[in-house]
Amino acid sequence: MTHSSVAWQYHTQTKYAPETLGQGQDIDWDHPPAQFKHYPGAPQTPLLPYHPLEKLRNEEDAAQRLNDPDSPLSLPRLSRLLYFTNGITAIARSAEGEHFFRAAPSAGALYPTELYLLVRRHLDLADGVYNYNVRNHALIEVYPKGLGPSGDELFERLSAACLNHRAVRDADAALVATAVYWRSAWRYGPRAFRRCMLDTGHVLGNLDLAVPRQGLCTFAVGGCVDDEVADLLAIPHGQEGVIGVFPLHSHDAFERVRRGTAALASSPLKLEDARGEDPLRRLHEATCIRREDLAAIRAAAGVDAGADYKISQKHEFRAGVKLSPSGADLAADLEHTILRRRSTRQLSGEGLTLRELSDVMAFAYRPDLVSPEDALPRYFDSGMLETFVVVHDVQGMEPGVYYLAPRQLELRLVKHGVFRGETHHIALGQDLARDAACVMFHTADLTSALERYGNRAYRYLHLDAGHIGQRVNLAAIRLGLGVSGIGGFFDDAVNQLLDVPERELCVYITCLGRPG
Ligand SMILES: Cc1cc2nc3c(=O)[nH]c(=O)nc-3n(C[C@H](O)[C@H](O)[C@H](O)COP(=O)(O)O)c2cc1C
Repeated sequence: MTHSSVAWQYHTQTKYAPETLGQGQDIDWDHPPAQFKHYPGAPQTPLLPYHPLEKLRNEEDAAQRLNDPDSPLSLPRLSRLLYFTNGITAIARSAEGEHFFRAAPSAGALYPTELYLLVRRHLDLADGVYNYNVRNHALIEVYPKGLGPSGDELFERLSAACLNHRAVRDADAALVATAVYWRSAWRYGPRAFRRCMLDTGHVLGNLDLAVPRQGLCTFAVGGCVDDEVADLLAIPHGQEGVIGVFPLHSHDAFERVRRGTAALASSPLKLEDARGEDPLRRLHEATCIRREDLAAIRAAAGVDAGADYKISQKHEFRAGVKLSPSGADLAADLEHTILRRRSTRQLSGEGLTLRELSDVMAFAYRPDLVSPEDALPRYFDSGMLETFVVVHDVQGMEPGVYYLAPRQLELRLVKHGVFRGETHHIALGQDLARDAACVMFHTADLTSALERYGNRAYRYLHLDAGHIGQRVNLAAIRLGLGVSGIGGFFDDAVNQLLDVPERELCVYITCLGRPG
């Protein structure tokens, strides 16, 4: 698959360029999308009684009344897991009303990500499918009593939809992440698909870190028959996309659950066979896996498994700077870090120490150096991503463009220079990118990625970049630094600055520095 794929077409159509910026759709400011899903009249199981913040708990001894307060999947643990993954951590009140900020950042604070919990054999939750209602910190039953799939039938269907993935087969609980496209598309138009995936990647970054801290383990199952999972969740096809399935097991199952296939290719689709006018909807359809194509997808996966993914050798790198992290586990105080995390609105222009940069980079790119094995991130296929760091002001480093060699944890020089003006321009004139101490560019060779996973690669790239971005965020916040993702940028200008060919695209940008 080459440039003549739906993903390439979408990417090209949704590039920002100085000549066309602002020519997109009009935003209907009077009718913003609903931030939460509504299930009128549906029964709710409140998680508030077990809220991790003491001041929010409304029943002192609620846990005492549970049938099974100490089980691995007890309501208090689920409450903490969901809260630190995607719960409300701040409320802004204004004349327009209340605005809720979450554990994970979101482009434009539009929060397209939804989480669903599927359970069976739980002593305090009826078998079935629940939507995590972020607003009320509650689980809402998606189906009217007795009408939805439940018990073994529910998990057999989930497992079948996940191609009998070993981590899903015998699970008694699973989370499913989805993205409600319109929430983001309302503001960002077709480019919202990128942001929905990036946003959800951030949520998954939280989930991944929170899971072991609740005595659980999981696996990121990205290869599933989308429509079958969507049917189980009773979500509108095409409007709310299934992102991944995350079976929840007791930590004891770690060795059994840790292996497996995280990502599968989408159904083969020729560009000329893609239907629909709306680029976002077309891309969504093109990234799906359909049951009738499973044999072809599996065969392709078998062939690919042995092949080494080629990272392009485009630069004759000059001497690099070895990063030397302190070895501190920046997740040690995760819950407090998530509670304190906000995207930095203004950076000061001051520099970072090399140790600070090293710690952040190690947490994001070499977690094996600083985290226990059961706390390592589960990406879909982060090996497809590369990282460039444009250094404005880091102690002991010449300003310039660097390429990260992750295995060596080394930043290798691409070119010297002070590029504050260039990063400012690239980020649509946002001062954050000028005043950062360094700007990280997450890039990928899209053509190679598409050869591996078909159009679905476009999802994985953005999800994993968001996931890495969240690790950068949390590491930075833990160290008292300033940090913000940048989802709006002039795509082609990034290639010029980094000296990378067109087939390599910028997936995401993160600015790191000192708060202003
Ligand atoms: C994918 C993504 C893209 C973002 N892009 C920008 C951006 O271009 N400029 C900016 O100032 N903030 C950006 N942000 C930060 C959001 O504005 C911020 O997350 C949101 O307002 C919620 O606030 P909080 O992160 O402090 O909770 C981005 C966040 C994400 C996850």
